[in-house]
Amino acid sequence: MENPEALIAEAIDRAHAALLRDMKELEMVGRRASSNGLETLRARLEATRVHLVEHFRFEEESGYMEAVRKLEPRLERAVAQLAEEHIQLLNSLDALRGEIAPMPRANEAVAAKVTAWVQKVRQHEARENHLVQDAFGLDIGAEG
Ligand SMILES: [Fe+2]
Repeated sequence: MENPEALIAEAIDRAHAALLRDMKELEMVGRRASSNGLETLRARLEATRVHLVEHFRFEEESGYMEAVRKLEPRLERAVAQLAEEHIQLLNSLDALRGEIAPMPRANEAVAAKVTAWVQKVRQHEARENHLVQDAFGLDIGAEG
């Protein structure tokens, strides 16, 4: 019989695995943008935004955040910091999309910028995993 925390941790684990697959794909599309053109990358960034908005909403509304706050009030500030990072990650994604939008073709910096942004997402997700692990005393898997 699983406790509610284990179920939440499992749901987060699954959601993170899906997001990290998406990040891997995005990074690859970014690396190929100089040969394949920017259209695929633009579409991929758009799809990533949709996925990310849905992912963050899940975490904020039905995911770990409320459960961690209730169970471990000492982690309130860490939760607030992670929620703030959700806004920053979406803002930096939009900045990247805005930068790429008018480009006629990819330059070398494009792949590096996509990778740098993906890295920020991975680090954020890893911090979330650690927080959930700390709050629930559980080990969860997916890290970038
Ligand atoms: Fe997450």
